[in-house]
Amino acid sequence: PASTVPQAPEDPLFGLMAAYKRDTSEKKVDLGIGAYRDDNAKPWVLPVVKKADDILRNDPNLNHEYLPIAGLPEFTSASQKLIFGSDSQAIKDGRVASIQAISGTGSLHLGALFLRKFYNPANPPSIYLSNPTWANHHQIFTNVSLQLAHYPYFSPQTRGLDFTGMLAAISAAPTGSIILLHACAHNPTGVDPTQAQWTQIADVMEQKGLFPFFDNAYQGFASGDLDRDAWAIRHFVARGFELLVAQSYAKNFGLYGERAGCFHYVAPATASAADASRVASQLAILQRSEISNPPAYGARIASTVLNNGALFAEWKENLTTMSGRLIGMRAELRGLLEKKGTPGTWNHVTDQIGMFSFTGLSEKQVGLLREKWHVYMTKNGRASVAGLNSRNVEYVAEAIDDVVRS
Ligand code: LMR
Repeated sequence: PASTVPQAPEDPLFGLMAAYKRDTSEKKVDLGIGAYRDDNAKPWVLPVVKKADDILRNDPNLNHEYLPIAGLPEFTSASQKLIFGSDSQAIKDGRVASIQAISGTGSLHLGALFLRKFYNPANPPSIYLSNPTWANHHQIFTNVSLQLAHYPYFSPQTRGLDFTGMLAAISAAPTGSIILLHACAHNPTGVDPTQAQWTQIADVMEQKGLFPFFDNAYQGFASGDLDRDAWAIRHFVARGFELLVAQSYAKNFGLYGERAGCFHYVAPATASAADASRVASQLAILQRSEISNPPAYGARIASTVLNNGALFAEWKENLTTMSGRLIGMRAELRGLLEKKGTPGTWNHVTDQIGMFSFTGLSEKQVGLLREKWHVYMTKNGRASVAGLNSRNVEYVAEAIDDVVRS
């Protein structure tokens, strides 16, 4: 079939990463991919991950057998507690069906496939994505032939949440529509609803009979507090919604390459454990046909930490190290731009949270940053704050100041 296969464009984000690698300038700065870097611009192996790794490597019983189709049981159960809370009524009722998946992307894909197959397959509902959203969301859902729709999310004027627009679009969605929500630390904007706003979103979704699907890729990165970052999901579950969650451990464990993640289905409060168990049986069939069984090593690392009180406490400290450094870099960048009198306002740099700053720079300015200053960010103006450090932040501020003025 080769002659009928058209050339596809390069993935914009991984293409940007490759362009950065090719750049020979000593001054180059990578604000592209959302992956944590330390103050030396190096990937950071979390000390607690190193400990878990040592424990596993020294375990004489470690082997390389297949995991069960649904994954490592102690990993999926700990993942449930982490996201829904250890005292979750839904877990106690047996209403949560969880299956280990290939990090966030694989969890989203499994959820997409499940929805396409079982959620009104003759007349499937649309899935509403925030505008903007993580670029990959578009292709994950179109790949399974779900129709996409969008809800406004970001206000270019305030560089904050367009809550009125968001709520209006969600209210107008046909009953049964799926609404994809970022649980915390929205990618790419770094702007999250407040708890009061989440409550209003849940009100509207309840009234209209809409179906929530949470993408949870940054738990621990938004507020630095794992429970607070899970608030929105726990709120929806407490209200009895039937919902889905895609849970990634790439960012909060720094396990990017291991693809550790978990997909959860929560049956509504009116349902029983038997309902969740039927869903689990179908998820297992989908998993078997797609990947047979999930990869073991990352799940073992996460599970070792999640199931050990001392290591869990240390993980929280490691998370604070990462989120604290990002907060510090935001403050420094904002301060430097304000000191320079760079035209515009820069409070959004510190108002936004998590891994990204949606800078408000135009595509043209982003292009100039790259060509003239060797500073790389995605063309929508998203900067990965993790790429800033004490040595390059002044240079980046100077570069931004220049492109804003030119
Ligand atoms: C990002 O948005 O930079 C990350 O989530 C990495 C990815 O896979 O796109």
